[in-house]
Amino acid sequence: MNILHVTCSPRGAVSESYRLSSHIIGQLLKNDPTATVINRVVSGDAIPQVDEHYALSQQSSVDVSQEGSMAQSEVLINELDSADIVVIGTPMHNFTVPAALKVWIDHIARVRRTFNVGAQGKTSVLRDRPVYIGVSSGGRFSGENPRQPDFLTTYLKAVLGMIGLHALTFFSVEGTALGPQAVAQARSKTDEAVEAHFSALR
Ligand SMILES: Cc1cc2nc3c(=O)[nH]c(=O)nc-3n(C[C@H](O)[C@H](O)[C@H](O)COP(=O)(O)O)c2cc1C
Repeated sequence: MNILHVTCSPRGAVSESYRLSSHIIGQLLKNDPTATVINRVVSGDAIPQVDEHYALSQQSSVDVSQEGSMAQSEVLINELDSADIVVIGTPMHNFTVPAALKVWIDHIARVRRTFNVGAQGKTSVLRDRPVYIGVSSGGRFSGENPRQPDFLTTYLKAVLGMIGLHALTFFSVEGTALGPQAVAQARSKTDEAVEAHFSALR
């Protein structure tokens, strides 16, 4: 089994979203110790923004250079398509995903490659597979009385669904700005939910 682990926090391996997505990976490995994990770090400038040729390829079917972003896109799509399970660790930035994760999405959501556009609208190309998403946020965005809008989960459902990935499961550590005690509580509640989810699959 191949697991693709995509992480995007500017705080790297000490980040909360990395900790949470690594906990999810740990549970997956407990269920299948022979699984292979591919780590795709997209934070900072790890992946350049899409270039002119790529942008042109999205608006017409003219032949464009297959180098630059088109080549980068092909690598990222093949990596995604080789995965049986995808795990994404992401913080919430301004109510949605960080710009770095959006750059990865711009490369993998490519017309005439991972989705098509026709009379019936957009149709997906990739086969479905489980996608686990570990989210961390400074404030709360779910549950009763969320203090802010959530465009992160709605956006990921829409854009990953467009390319064929519908089996999304979200876990979140919310309120990392609310002090060490609140963070410890949120972490242990979420870690328990993750463990319960994967032990039910055993
Ligand atoms: C640019 C930026 C924007 C942020 N926007 C939000 C936000 O809209 N809502 C929120 O709850 N937290 C926001 N935060 C706080 C982070 O979500 C929070 O610190 C999170 O725990 C960081 O996770 P990480 O350790 O995985 O990077 C923002 C942080 C940054 C750096």
